[in-house]
Amino acid sequence: MGFLYSQFFKTPPYPTGSYQGKTIVITGSNTGLGKEAARHYIRMGASRMILAVRNLDQGHEAKHDIEATTGCAPGVIQVWRVDMSSYASVQKFAARVNTELDRVDIFLANAGCAKLKYTTAEDNETQITVNVVATFLLVMLVMPKLKETALRYQTRPVLSITSSGAYQHTTFPQRTAPEGKLFATINDKATAEKHWAEQYPLSKLLEIFLVRAFAEKYPAATFPRHAQLRQPGAVPLGARAGAEHARLPRAQAGARALDRGRESDVGARGRRGKGDAWAVSRGLRGRSADGDGYGE
Ligand SMILES: NC(=O)c1ccc[n+]([C@@H]2O[C@H](COP(=O)([O-])OP(=O)(O)OC[C@H]3O[C@@H](n4cnc5c(N)ncnc54)[C@H](OP(=O)(O)O)[C@@H]3O)[C@@H](O)[C@H]2O)c1
Repeated sequence: MGFLYSQFFKTPPYPTGSYQGKTIVITGSNTGLGKEAARHYIRMGASRMILAVRNLDQGHEAKHDIEATTGCAPGVIQVWRVDMSSYASVQKFAARVNTELDRVDIFLANAGCAKLKYTTAEDNETQITVNVVATFLLVMLVMPKLKETALRYQTRPVLSITSSGAYQHTTFPQRTAPEGKLFATINDKATAEKHWAEQYPLSKLLEIFLVRAFAEKYPAATFPRHAQLRQPGAVPLGARAGAEHARLPRAQAGARALDRGRESDVGARGRRGKGDAWAVSRGLRGRSADGDGYGE
């Protein structure tokens, strides 16, 4: 019900503000929400934008498209490769972030997948590897750069993870697994296939658990950054994504069937909150007094 109200009756405002001087990194930015978020930031004057993509040709297509629609100067947008289904690729990309960028003001961990069938990557079910393990491996590897940015430029960088309201569509049946076997059970083929409609939602639920654990372990008061989850609503998937994507939870599928899926440009927005036009403190409010939040 909450999803339908939010989807049909609420539209996040058009983002405004200045991002001049800011360096922004967005994973999964060749298409969909990541690309539209990049376009918003560039329109608002970001000085450097890293489109982190697994397919460089598609990344360059996105770069040219954003440049053409915003008129941004050549050289502002760069396209770097990262494949979130490979931990080696994630480590290589993070090393590049840490060595080649003098600052990171916003890190938007947006790349994600929803699979129709059970496949594996790095020995986990692929959605668990891409949406959860690789995403948080990357986040932890670039966190020192955000901290360095905070101290050197007296600013408060933003770590933003694209979550999903789909997290509500799992009862987390694996939670009763014997101690020490939880992760193996989540990745077990027979278990995952039995609860397949819940596997993508579970990956999004695990993201929430991890951001909460992160916010508790590294409170913003001692670790200068905002951490936030963003929930974009139901948005048409990127043009190339179709065949790979799993069935959506019924309410979201219904919204799309009624042709009321949000445009990616709208899903890429959020209500203004602390630290970033995309931040909003909700859900995680109270876990950190200073800006950790849950974004719509
Ligand atoms: N669409 C919705 O209604 C909705 C709702 C809630 C949350 N979300 C979340 O929003 C995020 C963006 O999704 P979207 O809707 O914009 O879908 P999308 O158009 O399919 O975009 C997904 C992005 O993630 C990238 N990606 C997937 N697997 C990757 C990998 N192994 N390595 C590197 N990049 C990879 C894709 O790259 P390729 O183009 O190369 O595949 C693409 O750039 C996801 O985290 C998704 O779970 C979406």
